[in-house]
Amino acid sequence: MKRVITYGTFDLLHYGHINLLQRAKQYGDYLIVALSTDEFNWNEKQKKCYFSYEERKKLLEAVRYVDLVIPEESWEQKISDVREYHIDTFVIGDDWKGKFDFLKDSCEVIYLPRTPEISSTQIKKDLSAS
Ligand code: CTP
Repeated sequence: MKRVITYGTFDLLHYGHINLLQRAKQYGDYLIVALSTDEFNWNEKQKKCYFSYEERKKLLEAVRYVDLVIPEESWEQKISDVREYHIDTFVIGDDWKGKFDFLKDSCEVIYLPRTPEISSTQIKKDLSAS
C-alpha cells in the first residue's frame, strides 16, 4: 500500500483544497492530512482560523480522499511523521516549492500547482468587504 501525506490549515474548506486532496490521493492508496492545530497556526503562522481544529478535522474526515487526519504541531515533525506512518510520498501546493526538499532523503516530494484565484485568506477578505 502506498502512503501519501500532506500538511496544511484547511480553514473554510474550499474547492482549491479539494483539488489538492484529490490530486494528492492519486499518488497512492492512503492519504494522511497533518492538520495545523490552532496553537501552531497562531504561534508559527500568525493565522487565526475561522473554524477550530476539531471543526476543520471533522470537515476533512468527511472528504472521500482523506483516510486519516493527524495534528500538525511543529515544523520539525515531518521527518518523524514520514518514518512513523511509513510515508512514500509527501505532497503540498507549490506555494511551498523547494521548502521541503530536505525530505527527499526519506520519501518522494511533490509540489502541486495551486488552484488559481481561491484561498481562505481571500474568502475572509471578500466576506469582510461585503
Ligand atoms: N491549496 C491549493 N490551491 C489553493 C489553495 C490552497 O492547492 N487555491 C493548497 C495549498 O497549497 C496547501 C493546501 O491547499 O497545500 C492547504 O493550504 P492552506 O494554506 O490551508 O489554504 P489557503 O487557502 O492557501 O489558506 P491561506 O489563505 O490561509 O494561506
